[in-house]
Amino acid sequence: MSFMAKLVCLASLWMIPVSAGEEADALSAADLDAGTPKKNSADIPSKEEYETALKSLDMEAVKKDMKELLADSKDFWPADFGNYGPFMVRLAWHCSGSYRGSDGVGGCGGGRQRFEPERSWPDNTNLDKARALVAPLKQKYGHALSWGDLFILAGTTGLRDAGAPLKQMCFGRVDEAHGKKSELLGPTALQAETHPCKVNGKCKYPLGDTTLGLVYVNPEGSMAVPDPKLSSFDIRQTFGIMGHSDKNTVALIGGGHAVGKGHGACPKGGGLSPKDAYEKGERPWQGECGTGKGKDTATAGFEGAWTTNPLKWDNEYFKNLLDKEWEKFKGPGGHWQWRIKGSDSKLMRLTSDIALLHDDEYTKYVKVFADDMDAFNSAFDEAWFDLTTKYGSGTWADNAKCDNGEFPESLRHVELPDVDKYKGRLYMLQDDLDVSSNGPSSSTVMLAAFAACLLVGVVISVALKHRSQKRDAEFVEVPYEEVISE
Ligand code: HEM
Repeated sequence: MSFMAKLVCLASLWMIPVSAGEEADALSAADLDAGTPKKNSADIPSKEEYETALKSLDMEAVKKDMKELLADSKDFWPADFGNYGPFMVRLAWHCSGSYRGSDGVGGCGGGRQRFEPERSWPDNTNLDKARALVAPLKQKYGHALSWGDLFILAGTTGLRDAGAPLKQMCFGRVDEAHGKKSELLGPTALQAETHPCKVNGKCKYPLGDTTLGLVYVNPEGSMAVPDPKLSSFDIRQTFGIMGHSDKNTVALIGGGHAVGKGHGACPKGGGLSPKDAYEKGERPWQGECGTGKGKDTATAGFEGAWTTNPLKWDNEYFKNLLDKEWEKFKGPGGHWQWRIKGSDSKLMRLTSDIALLHDDEYTKYVKVFADDMDAFNSAFDEAWFDLTTKYGSGTWADNAKCDNGEFPESLRHVELPDVDKYKGRLYMLQDDLDVSSNGPSSSTVMLAAFAACLLVGVVISVALKHRSQKRDAEFVEVPYEEVISE
C-alpha cells in the first residue's frame, strides 16, 4: 500500500478525544477552532477594513511576540528540542508550496490551509496543532494580522531564529473566508472534473503535485519506491511548476531540512484528519503511537533529524549528503528511509533527499552549497522569498509593507513562472501536450516529438536498470515503466 493510502487508511481507524482542562497546558478549543474552523468557513474583514487595521500593525512587535511564542513549549504539543521553529517552517512551506504556476492556483495568500481540502491533506497532518499554537497571536493582533501573514511569519521567524539570514518579511496578504479556490488543487469533485489525475502518484500537468494530498512529491520515492533517480524526476516536475530553478530547488530542500526532524514513531499514523474528525463530531488530536505526542509523534512516518543540531542554520545537510554513504532501510514508521552506512548515527535522509545526488544539475548545487555557506544563504533567501512572497500570495493589501523597507510593487503583477522551459525535461508534462485547449502549435508538436524520443530513451534505460536491480533483495518491486510513462 502506498505511503499516502496507509496514512489515510490508518488515520480513519482511531482517535483520542481530549477534554478541555485535561492537561495543565491544554489546547484551547477556541485556538483549535480559529486555526481549523469547524464550520469550514470563517468571518474575515473586508479588504478595506483589513487595510485600515494593517496601518497599525507594529511589525517589530509581532516579530518579537512570534519569537517568544516559538520558544514557549506547550504540554499539549511539546516542541521538539524546545522550539517550534522547524514545525512552523513546515507550516509555512506547506501553506506556500501548494502553488502551481501552470494556472496560478494555490499558495499561502488567503490562508486557505485552514479549510478543506488543504487542511485534511495527509501532508498537512498535525498542522492543525501548528495553526492552533499561533492562533493566540491572531487573536492579539486581530484584523491587522492576516492568517496568511501569520503562517509565513511563523516559518520566517523559525528560520531567522535558527540563524538563516532572510532579508525581508512582508505583510499584507488578504485572507479568504473559505477554501473554495483550493478545490482546484484537489482531491475534490471539481479537480476530478477539471484536472483529473488518472493514477494518484503520477498526476500530470497542469496539476503541480504528483500525488493528490501531498504538497509536492512522495518523500519515500515515486509511488513509494525508494529509487532516488525516479524521485529526482518528480522533484523537478513539482518544483519547476512551482516556479523554482534547479538551484533554488536544492537550496529550499537543503535549507528546509537543515532544521527540524521527521516524525514516524510507529507505523500507526497520525490520527484523524480534520475532515474525518469533524464529520464524526470529534476534534482531531494526537496520533496512534503511544502518547501520540513528543517522542511518540507520527506525522509523515519517517523518523529522525537531518542534521546534528536541528535548531541551527548551517550547511551540514549538504556536507553529510555528499560525504557519507547512505543506505535504505525501513524506519520505525514502516517506510523506506536512509541512514549512514556502518554508523549508529540517528541522522536520516528521505529518498527525495538522496535524489539530489542522482541528478547532475542538482548534485552540482549540493556541492556548491556544501562548500560555500554564502552561496547557500543567498540562494535560500531568494528561494524562500519566491516561495512565500512572490508566488501564490493572492491579493495584497494596497498598503502592504515589509520589514526591510518598501513593499516591492512588482509583487502585485507576478507573471506565472515560465514552465515551458522545463517541457523537454519533464516527463510528467507529456500529457499536457495533448490536452492543450488551444491545440498544439507546430513548435509544441516538435517539442512533443523530441520529448517522446527522450521518454523512450528514459524508459529503456530505466527498464535496463530495473532488471539489474531485481537482484537487490530488499527492494520493493514496482513496474518502473508504469511510474515514468503513461
Ligand atoms: C522534495 C521536497 C520535500 C519533501 C519530499 C519533504 C518531506 C518532508 C517530510 C516527510 C518531513 C517529515 C514530516 C514529519 O514527519 O514531521 C519533512 C519535514 C520538514 N520539512 Fe520537508 N520536504 C521537502 C521539502 C521541504 C522544503 C522545501 C522545506 C522548506 C523550505 C521543508 C521543510 C521541512 C521542515 C522544516 C521539516 C521539519 C518539521 C518539523 O521539525 O516538525 N521541506 N519534510
